[in-house]
Amino acid sequence: MTDISTPKMTARGINVFYGDKQAINDVSIDITQEDVTAFIGPSGCGKSTFLRTLNRMNDTIANARVEGQIALDGEDIYASSMDVVQLRARVGMVFQKPNPFPKSIYENVAYGPRIHGLATGKAELDQIVEKSLRRAGLWDEVKDRLAESGTALSGGQQQRLCIARAIAVNPEVILMDEPCSALDPIATAKIEELIHELRGRYAIAIVTHNMQQAARVSQRTAFFHLGTLVEYGDTSEIFTNPRETRTKDYITGRYG
Ligand SMILES: Nc1ncnc2c1ncn2[C@@H]1O[C@H](COP(=O)(O)OP(=O)(O)O)[C@@H](O)[C@H]1O
Ligand SMILES: [Mg+2]
Repeated sequence: MTDISTPKMTARGINVFYGDKQAINDVSIDITQEDVTAFIGPSGCGKSTFLRTLNRMNDTIANARVEGQIALDGEDIYASSMDVVQLRARVGMVFQKPNPFPKSIYENVAYGPRIHGLATGKAELDQIVEKSLRRAGLWDEVKDRLAESGTALSGGQQQRLCIARAIAVNPEVILMDEPCSALDPIATAKIEELIHELRGRYAIAIVTHNMQQAARVSQRTAFFHLGTLVEYGDTSEIFTNPRETRTKDYITGRYG
């Protein structure tokens, strides 16, 4: 059983540097199992940089350096013993621009389970693909065209396919970096609905520059400014009764 009294992930004293330039300054935050956590703040404040520390995607950026401690279920994800491929399955990521593989819809979802050895045969793999596409709210739209290319889908469908791909490897946490910024309002509403449905099953952290979206989809909100975490708390509190002047200025549209 999941212990809900301890956060799924904890970040403590995180600094991130690109070369000499510091992009994140002493950020500490908890990502809880039962909540959707939104990261908001003006462009360039470090939201994506911080999100990437949670599954070591910054490792893939040549001049990036991370300091501090991040734990997943109490386990240090920056420990040398951590298997990074396994970590990125446990802490999946969905990007701003949908990025399905140039393969069939089926293969987009089956690829991860296959390389992680999650299915013992074709029937089981088929089941994982169907379950993942159902959870991502895409099954009914694609069940008769699984052999077609993932890139032939609409933008919103592609993004749900990327969510299905993340789900297929049994993640514990799903990170989303502005997952709706390339989508129209109807596709955006579908993704937001999906986030509601996935809440609780997976710990979710979502970056958004859309404050209405943060208010709609999250229970916890973290406001970043110039690489620092200015304020972190219940979404309703942040939006109705922020403690910090900088938060208030941002949510009232004074800068952004
Ligand atoms: N790969 C990179 N190399 C150098 N600087 C970067 C890189 N990625 C981001 N930055 C810088 O780090 C800061 C935070 O960027 P980012 O995390 O993308 O902000 P946000 O997602 O809030 O818009 C910005 O000043 C940005 O220019
Ligand atoms: Mg960003």
